[in-house]
Amino acid sequence: MEGKKPEKYDVAPATASVYLDRHYWDQRFAEEEHYEWFKGYSHFRDLVLREIDPNASVLEVGCGNSQLCEELYGDGITELTCIDLSPVAVEKMKQRLSSKGFKEIKVLEADMLDLPFEDEYFDVVIEKGSMDVLFVDSGDPWNPEPLTREKVMTMLQGVHRVLKPHGIFISIAFGQPHFRRPFFNAPSFSWSLEWRTFGDGFHYFFYILKKGQRSSHEIEHIEKIGLPSMTLFHEELDNEDYLFRTDVDGI
Ligand SMILES: C[S@@+](CC[C@H](N)C(=O)[O-])C[C@H]1O[C@@H](n2cnc3c(N)ncnc32)[C@H](O)[C@@H]1O
Repeated sequence: MEGKKPEKYDVAPATASVYLDRHYWDQRFAEEEHYEWFKGYSHFRDLVLREIDPNASVLEVGCGNSQLCEELYGDGITELTCIDLSPVAVEKMKQRLSSKGFKEIKVLEADMLDLPFEDEYFDVVIEKGSMDVLFVDSGDPWNPEPLTREKVMTMLQGVHRVLKPHGIFISIAFGQPHFRRPFFNAPSFSWSLEWRTFGDGFHYFFYILKKGQRSSHEIEHIEKIGLPSMTLFHEELDNEDYLFRTDVDGI
């Protein structure tokens, strides 16, 4: 709100809804140089390289201060654009990439709910943990609040729009398939849906959505057998990830 001094947050906030406040991210990125949500690139590298062609144009949504774009670049995927809502994250990312010689990677301040790109512009859109932020105050995960649903659908419609006709959306997420599937499978989208899991104790989800590939009998694949337990303890999760934990205990 204009004229109101933003609250000073702890880096690991007491409640997950703070992740929806852009001031939180600005404050955090002003102090923090690198934080990798969920897991670093090495944990899902094989999954990414199976899906992304080296010539692909790639948009990373909600880059924060992650090293994902550098790692992709190192693997030969060099046509990269990163966006984040936080001007602090964007400025620091630009400085970091420039100082390391990654001058071709574009970094822009932009809202994933209002993507400033033409239709059918990218071969691939990738995000890690950014869509999860939209769910932090969703209420009952089986029946999310209307505002959550609206924001998630706005984001997905934008991603679907900027993808080329056979483009791929990769969503690396904490959110489990039974909560994500209703959004990804909305009738307005033409993409197919598959997912993989990665991680040790707790499994994170690697969703692959291929535009124009939805079949009438949509087949879902789970590479590893077994979904993670719904009653996780904080100790099973890395660092702050437990704040994205879906509160299903009372359901
Ligand atoms: C959980 S962090 C993930 C950061 C990074 N992708 C990673 O894996 O470490 C969520 C990121 O989304 C960004 N973000 C939140 N809302 C956004 C929005 N509406 N548009 C673009 N970025 C947003 C935050 O600034 C933050 O960098």
